Amino acid sequence: MQPFFITSTGTNIGKTLVTTALVWQLRQAGKMVTALKPVISGYDPNDAQSDSALILQSYGLTPAHDLAASISPWRYTIPLAPNMAAAKEGKPVEFEKLVAFCREHMALASDIVLVEGVGGVMVPLDNAHTVLDWMVALGWPVILVGGYLSRRDQPYADGTRGTQSAQVENAGAHPQRVGRRCFA
Ligand SMILES: Nc1ncnc2c1ncn2[C@@H]1O[C@H](COP(=O)(O)OP(=O)(O)OP(=O)(O)O)[C@@H](O)[C@H]1O
Ligand SMILES: [Mg+2]
Repeated sequence: MQPFFITSTGTNIGKTLVTTALVWQLRQAGKMVTALKPVISGYDPNDAQSDSALILQSYGLTPAHDLAASISPWRYTIPLAPNMAAAKEGKPVEFEKLVAFCREHMALASDIVLVEGVGGVMVPLDNAHTVLDWMVALGWPVILVGGYLSRRDQPYADGTRGTQSAQVENAGAHPQRVGRRCFA
């Protein structure tokens, strides 16, 4: 069983596009894939384009709230960083439970687990942990999605040195090539 953590240098970069493209391609190749979006901000249960809904659709499921809840246990309506959204809505991200949630799916899944992060590498999950801490705690290979790394982003991306990082350049523009690069 092979897990990957999908992150990016910022929000709205193409993580979900890469995640869903990989799910689709891997399923075409006959692999059993599990994809998770454990923490999501700006979530609308009626939005068929939410990350959770898109991921469910990528493996052929009709998005329904209970299914979305199963792949996205920490959902926030407000489109803010999870620590700030949780401060307003309750249900803070419990870091150890988040890591355990991902590991449980790795134990259950048959071929590949993809976990999409939230925002960029340095987004706070709670007041003590960032996405980078999440990646390091899991210790999984990281797919870093980003068209380019600005000088501002580079130190953040360098933070992935503590993990096994596989940078994917221009991933959003070439989802099929991404699949080949990562899994050929
Ligand atoms: N190559 C591309 N061509 C056109 N649109 C793209 C491309 N890559 C991504 N997009 C669009 O850009 C938007 C952001 O992509 P996506 O939702 O995958 O980013 P994200 O990193 O997952 O964002 P978030 O931080 O909200 O999870 C989406 O509307 C997506 O369809
Ligand atoms: Mg996304």
